[in-house]
Amino acid sequence: MKILFLNGPNLNLLGQREPELYGRSSLADIEGKVRSRAQMLHVDVEFRQTNLEGELVNWIQQAKSGADVIVLNAAAYTHTSIALRDAIVATGVPTIEIHLSNIHAREEFRHKSLIAPVCRGQILGFGANSYILALEASINVNVS
Ligand code: DQA
Repeated sequence: MKILFLNGPNLNLLGQREPELYGRSSLADIEGKVRSRAQMLHVDVEFRQTNLEGELVNWIQQAKSGADVIVLNAAAYTHTSIALRDAIVATGVPTIEIHLSNIHAREEFRHKSLIAPVCRGQILGFGANSYILALEASINVNVS
């Protein structure tokens, strides 16, 4: 089983960026934790980050032939991107939305996720642990 972790804009700055909100772990630290948990669970992971919306769209489209599940932290594009939402629908790969912070406890403009209705579920508010929880959720994504 292959799980594709996609990270959107400004997540390359994790660790330095608003640590009171997002914690002190860098994206590389989080990737390391995800990889060691994935090894224990015998699943493959791929981890990517981009600041470009179109690149996320391309990666979601390509996942059709390369991943069983997408774990997506679309960062600010969560709240703005119809293109990401359409790509998730078009691709049909089960997608789990994640966030480090609890977007519902923050500014009102973050309460709305345009991708939530087309994702299997949301995991948010657990800091770096949101990624581990998403990995575990991915394995059972088709079990009801
Ligand atoms: C975020 C929440 C978004 O609202 C914000 O734009 C981010 C990070 C999170 O992981 O908490 O960049 O996706």
